[in-house]
Amino acid sequence: MPDCSRFPAWKKLKEHQKDMQRISMRYLFAEDANRFERFSLQAGGILLDYSKNRITALTVRLWLELAKEARLSDAIEAMFSGQKINRTEDRAVLHTALRNRDHTPVFVDGRDIMPDVDGVLARMRTFTDEVRNGNWLGYTGKRITDIVNIGIGGSDLGPVMVTQALKPYWHRDLRAHFVSNVDPSQMIDTLAEVDPETTLFIVASKTFTTPETLLNAHVARRWLIDQAGSEAAVVRHFVAVSTNTEKVQAFGIDKEHMFEFWDWVGGRYSIWSAVGLPVALMVGMDHFEDFLSGAHAMDQHFRTASPERNLPVIMGMLSLWHNDFWNAESQAIFPYDQYLARFPAYLQQLEMESNGKSVTFDGKTSRCQTGPVIWGEPGGNGQHAFFQLLHQGTRTVPADFLIAAESQRPVDRQHEVLQANCFAQTKALMLGKTRDEAKAELMRNGVTGKRLEMLLPHKVFPGNRPTTTLVYRKLDPYTLGALIALYEHKVFVQGAVWNINSFDQWGVELGKQLTGGIETDLADDKQITGHDSSTNGLINACKHLRRNGNGATG
Ligand code: F6P
Repeated sequence: MPDCSRFPAWKKLKEHQKDMQRISMRYLFAEDANRFERFSLQAGGILLDYSKNRITALTVRLWLELAKEARLSDAIEAMFSGQKINRTEDRAVLHTALRNRDHTPVFVDGRDIMPDVDGVLARMRTFTDEVRNGNWLGYTGKRITDIVNIGIGGSDLGPVMVTQALKPYWHRDLRAHFVSNVDPSQMIDTLAEVDPETTLFIVASKTFTTPETLLNAHVARRWLIDQAGSEAAVVRHFVAVSTNTEKVQAFGIDKEHMFEFWDWVGGRYSIWSAVGLPVALMVGMDHFEDFLSGAHAMDQHFRTASPERNLPVIMGMLSLWHNDFWNAESQAIFPYDQYLARFPAYLQQLEMESNGKSVTFDGKTSRCQTGPVIWGEPGGNGQHAFFQLLHQGTRTVPADFLIAAESQRPVDRQHEVLQANCFAQTKALMLGKTRDEAKAELMRNGVTGKRLEMLLPHKVFPGNRPTTTLVYRKLDPYTLGALIALYEHKVFVQGAVWNINSFDQWGVELGKQLTGGIETDLADDKQITGHDSSTNGLINACKHLRRNGNGATG
């Protein structure tokens, strides 16, 4: 496969971008009354309005040419049909099979994996029903009231984000807690909030070798045994979610209490597997299956819809357009939905761990700019913090705005206020305010003369800043499933064009390797000299501070 910059459509897009630099969105909207209809799509209960971007029909045509030259359709089929597209790890990529609600066979190495998938879902149903109905009892015979998920990365971010997003569906007598950080404060504070007699720990780790998770799990296990006065309590209070039966058993969790998943599920794509157990416990298996169904609907759309009507294809190409042709360094995500507060953090792993690569499948350095920096916050809060930079800063930050048509918790007309804020922001970013408009406004407010001249440049908004808006009826489990799958496939589309492996994560290894040596160096009080001067200095400063309390380093 040629480097993406060598595709003929890439070159055409470069030329086209030069033309587009001269055209404003104000003009494009004024010129075409049907711009919204032309540049909006719907699937899986999600409306995607991408009209407030610097694009024309020609732009989209060229994106589709590029997708064709990159053989995107073949790549999509290769993923869904279980080919080992994660070549550096020699694995298939089949999170889509986890939510294959049609139950049609999916083969890995000649074996249909659907019976395994459905088998684990059935076990999850039995277990979650028992806990939710109060039949699963703790070591003193009390029902479970608190669930503590111990995991990190994909074994944490998905469970946290989805559990939080589906709060209106929670079982009223259950509470969920999440511990990911190896900083013991998080575990200690969590343990202070729960009762050992009524707490269920879920140790979630694909590999079951991740030190942060295992250290935290051991702290929780010791705490439980200390409180209960016997190891026998562990069996009623610990379950595991993993691909590694041996390590789970070595930790002291029985195979019976392990929920399996498989190496063809990437960590950051694992929320659809038993990694979703905390979600299923909190919202019940019926809602969890609705969540899977929403994702399945988006999968079918992605696999079968024509590229020009295909939400993930359009979103992927749009993001690539900003990233590679307008040199946008980051992509912001603004949910106008409090329940999606952790969605930006979830997308950070999904996008940045997937597409933060600089080497193509052919082992060559990519000549294209790959994954952008993803960041974001609930939009309403962002408006009063960093939106200034979006409106008047020197950088262009393409942003996704997400909003529900209906609130999960309606109060008076407050949801309309939220919606008005969301739509006003995208309108303001697109339209801006010209010098003439700003001047007229100042004069209307009685500002004249020198003060007007001084103020005027500060009151101008350049506008022409790209935003994309996603609207859904209500953040129910089905819609949330479709939304996450939409972003997953968007990431896939970009990876396919860049010809990078979106499913490995070798970049996290080096830091892990170096941690062991530094941990040993930190264990005693000796002066350390074996690293670069900065690393030596930092280790020695910590030792000095912990020895002497405070004061100068040395
Ligand atoms: O270090 C990165 C990573 O491997 C992620 O890809 C993964 O989601 C996370 O660590 C946790 O891994 P595990 O589920 O194996 O504990």
